[in-house]
Amino acid sequence: MIFLLLLVSLTAVARAAVLVDFQVAQPPIVPSNVKQCTVQVLQRDFAFSFGHSEIVELVPPTDCGPVGSWSAITLNLTVTSNGTQFDRLGIFTFQNVEIWRTSTPEPTRGDGIIWTYIKDVSQYMPLFETAGTFIFQLDNLIEQGLDGIYSSVVHATYYASSQQHPPADKANLIVPLSTLANDTGNDASVPPGFSLNVTLPTNTVEIYAELFASGNGQEEFWYTNAANEFISSLPDGTTFGQGPFREVRLLIDGQVAGVALPYPVIFTGGIIPSFWRPITSYGALELPTYFLDVTPFAPLLSDGNPHNFTIDVPSAEADHTTNQNWFVSGLLQVITDSSSKRTTGKITKYVVEPFATTSATGSVSQSEFDVEITVQATHSVHIEADVIRGSGKTTHVVWTQDMSYSNLQVYTNDALTQFIKQTATGDTRSTHNGVSVVSDSFSYPLALNMTFLNPAFTSWTSEVDHSYDRTLQASPLVLGTTIHNHQITTGFFQTASTGNTGNGTSNNTFTYRDTAGNTYQRIVNAALNNITFDEQSGSLAPTNIPAVVEQALQANDRMFAPARLPGNSA
Ligand SMILES: *[C@@H]1O[C@H](CO)[C@@H](O)[C@H](O)[C@H]1NC(C)=O
Ligand SMILES: *[C@@H]1O[C@H](CO)[C@@H](O)[C@H](O)[C@H]1NC(C)=O
Ligand SMILES: *[C@@H]1O[C@H](CO)[C@@H](O)[C@H](O)[C@H]1NC(C)=O
Ligand SMILES: *[C@@H]1O[C@H](CO)[C@@H](O)[C@H](O)[C@H]1NC(C)=O
Ligand SMILES: *[C@@H]1O[C@H](CO)[C@@H](O)[C@H](O)[C@H]1NC(C)=O
Ligand SMILES: *[C@@H]1O[C@H](CO)[C@@H](O)[C@H](O)[C@H]1NC(C)=O
Ligand SMILES: *[C@@H]1O[C@H](CO)[C@@H](O)[C@H](O)[C@H]1NC(C)=O
Ligand SMILES: *[C@@H]1O[C@H](CO)[C@@H](O)[C@H](O)[C@H]1NC(C)=O
Ligand SMILES: *[C@@H]1O[C@H](CO)[C@@H](O)[C@H](O)[C@H]1NC(C)=O
Repeated sequence: MIFLLLLVSLTAVARAAVLVDFQVAQPPIVPSNVKQCTVQVLQRDFAFSFGHSEIVELVPPTDCGPVGSWSAITLNLTVTSNGTQFDRLGIFTFQNVEIWRTSTPEPTRGDGIIWTYIKDVSQYMPLFETAGTFIFQLDNLIEQGLDGIYSSVVHATYYASSQQHPPADKANLIVPLSTLANDTGNDASVPPGFSLNVTLPTNTVEIYAELFASGNGQEEFWYTNAANEFISSLPDGTTFGQGPFREVRLLIDGQVAGVALPYPVIFTGGIIPSFWRPITSYGALELPTYFLDVTPFAPLLSDGNPHNFTIDVPSAEADHTTNQNWFVSGLLQVITDSSSKRTTGKITKYVVEPFATTSATGSVSQSEFDVEITVQATHSVHIEADVIRGSGKTTHVVWTQDMSYSNLQVYTNDALTQFIKQTATGDTRSTHNGVSVVSDSFSYPLALNMTFLNPAFTSWTSEVDHSYDRTLQASPLVLGTTIHNHQITTGFFQTASTGNTGNGTSNNTFTYRDTAGNTYQRIVNAALNNITFDEQSGSLAPTNIPAVVEQALQANDRMFAPARLPGNSA
């Protein structure tokens, strides 16, 4: 990776029809045979919007059953853009809690692009029960050569509950781990770590944390950053330092409560923008988030006093810091006891190293700039606690995490040829009196090769082989899910003062199943901006699109409209 090229936009070429971009994902799990209330949350043309978020008041509807009794809530973000623009990060904050992190596909010129993403926000039901400030931060810039405006509309749909579709499970309280700003997205920039005081109810008995984290700027391609001791062996400007290892940590009063290995989301301007037309990389429209069972800390946190929560993103370098920057935030789903008496108990075991155990090894060959670097890391967490509810019951909580990471970087031919192979795997689980509550088994392999075709680094070919394999039970409040996504892209890119050009192919295999028995599979391939193969199946597959092989389709605007909600077809 050459850092001058990290942010590229594909010069827009005129197209015959609007390009329908999408991220492969399962359709939201929502009932089809209940009353729905859809309200427009906001509409905004994000032109020069840096520092000017869209801020609106969102009021719960009263005509889809009692407020808070809904079976599901979804947000529909639909955006059009026409012109040239970089990918931009989008942060949705409601009641000072980040509820969705997204990014924008880079537009084309002529008929432009459109995309729709439906985000299931049912797990944030407690926030939607009262009127509050809803903020969509999409910091866009209009300047020389960048004229793409992101014209956005957001609708919220509330699904009534019924005998067959009961109200969604929900926490008693959702607490933000955020900047609490009222005029912009509530994520914090790190390093250094972000800390805030949190005071929880004294009858808190269960706490489930969700963390948001994404690398930006010099950290957008963090997995290509080289270990500091080898940076001087590479040509100037090849990549950034601070190595490729990153973990997201949550600390409570300075003690690590849990860690996460982030999935490397590639935004649509990443590596070769034409890889991601019209299929974005996995996670670009809904960035994955990370879940920790913080229940062992309930006895401590129920003392009625403020406690210092910290989110940070250490590296494997000696100073544990990173370049600028990561955007982080989090939230706590808090369950309180039926009794108002104070929760007691204590942590009975705490075996956690503050930082991962890491190593960086490598070789620099005789011929200049042939460099091979391997960075490895492991981190385990083992915390046990007895949590005694005011109502009497004692719960023994066991929280364990085992993380394993490796990253190989090979630079040859004066760094004109670069190969990165990273794997991050982990097993995380908690039990409450022996019953499994939170679990996360994941594997995020990434292989990236880049071949620069000239010493000026102005044209290159690349191949990315990237997977997201995860079996996740985020909390007792949501369905457990198993997702396998495999994406292989190949392409070519050339920068020029007269306009950038490129091409790409993308093959995707996605499977989903959950603990309610829902299933969904999609195999979808694209070449040169066109869908060449698309097959969807499973119980969640849209019934209006036959689950058959569709080959050599050219009119991707008609056939590949965003998947409709199951059962909503005429
Ligand atoms: C897109 O913008 C171009 C000007 O850059 C304009 O000619 C064209 O009509 C626009 N397309 C749409 C669909 O608005
Ligand atoms: C936003 O926060 C600032 C500073 O905390 C405060 O002065 C201002 O009144 C707040 N605005 C709203 C609309 O709450
Ligand atoms: C948290 O509160 C304590 C006092 O209880 C204060 O000393 C500290 O500065 C606060 N920390 C933050 C991050 O606000
Ligand atoms: C909160 O904890 C972090 C991490 O240990 C520490 O760096 C910070 O100084 C603490 N803040 C306060 C106000 O104690
Ligand atoms: C890397 O890219 C080249 C062509 O750009 C391709 O032939 C090769 O198979 C790719 N993959 C690996 C793992 O080298
Ligand atoms: C992409 O462009 C390069 C350079 O013009 C060309 O060699 C390659 O065949 C093209 N790829 C496809 C899939 O058309
Ligand atoms: C992508 O799938 C097509 C069939 O749709 C196949 O011809 C091609 O070889 C695949 N590409 C890769 C890189 O697997
Ligand atoms: C891609 O689709 C467009 C129409 O949407 C068509 O003009 C173009 O020829 C197609 N390209 C290929 C390589 O199929
Ligand atoms: C999402 O919103 C767009 C724009 O309002 C609308 O055209 C589309 O039908 C909606 N999709 C769903 C599934 O509700």
